[in-house]
Amino acid sequence: MHQFLPYAWFGGRCVPFAEATLSVATHALHYGTGAFGGMRAIPSASDPDEILLFRADRHARRLSQSARLLLTELSEATILDAITAFLKANKPSTPVYLRPFVYTSDLGIAPRLHNIETDFLIYGLELGDYLSPEGVSCRISSWTRQEDRSLPLRGKISGAYITSSLAKTEAVKSGFDEALLLNSRGKVSEASGMNLFLVRDGVLITPGVDQDILEGITRASVLELARAMDIPVLERPVDKSELFIADEVFLSGTAAKVTPVRRVESTDLPSQRPVMERIRERLTAITEGRDPVYDHWVTRIRLDA
Ligand SMILES: Cc1ncc(COP(=O)(O)O)c(C=O)c1O
Repeated sequence: MHQFLPYAWFGGRCVPFAEATLSVATHALHYGTGAFGGMRAIPSASDPDEILLFRADRHARRLSQSARLLLTELSEATILDAITAFLKANKPSTPVYLRPFVYTSDLGIAPRLHNIETDFLIYGLELGDYLSPEGVSCRISSWTRQEDRSLPLRGKISGAYITSSLAKTEAVKSGFDEALLLNSRGKVSEASGMNLFLVRDGVLITPGVDQDILEGITRASVLELARAMDIPVLERPVDKSELFIADEVFLSGTAAKVTPVRRVESTDLPSQRPVMERIRERLTAITEGRDPVYDHWVTRIRLDA
């Protein structure tokens, strides 16, 4: 059972977590017509009254855009104000994961996005390592990543996560930790909830935004950092066979952070990962507020203000 934070943001205010409940007839529960975000909030090591959020502006923008894809309005300012109030109410003293969620809150049937009430909530939980930082084994899923022509993939639309769920469980039940999904053109897209990188001959390669990926905020940050660290970067279609001969393969995401891939199907990958290690170290320092060059990626929320 997860350790949830004591207060949720629900119906426009903070209420005790146990009181933030929904009707069985909630529209989004039946049709997957919600969109969520996922952010980590870390108490500052130097100041107990300060919480650090990594790229909060980007997370708010993506959630606001996801809302727009569901034909509803949720401004970035509304999201950031609610997150601030939520953190002030909860005053987390350990790293936590925040889950903001916009959804069709109407009661009743008929899949639609017009003439419907929507609402916005936030809850939080303690979250350690989502995947082992030592590395994971990956199965290439028999499920295909959706296409943007049938579902807006630029948003974190909750209904889309049926494919992630099927792929993850298929992988775990067959003895792997995580799933890698190919897209409908047979190219490597991403994992069940993370983007994918590989390194070949010193070049950092990742599927481009035209490969049916979620436009991950960690992915964008890894790319920007790599360029600044003079690591050559390529965004291009990735073939399945490249996974077996890569020098390094790793995953990126808010929950998974930067996680190495140890094995793909039955192929073990090299245990030395110099490029990933450099990037992971830098990204960790940034998220913990220890890198002055990238301090603008960190939002500091004062709990005593
Ligand atoms: C399907 C999917 N891909 C990629 C990611 C990584 O995105 P981010 O780095 O913004 O967390 C996530 C997690 O949010 C995800 O759910």
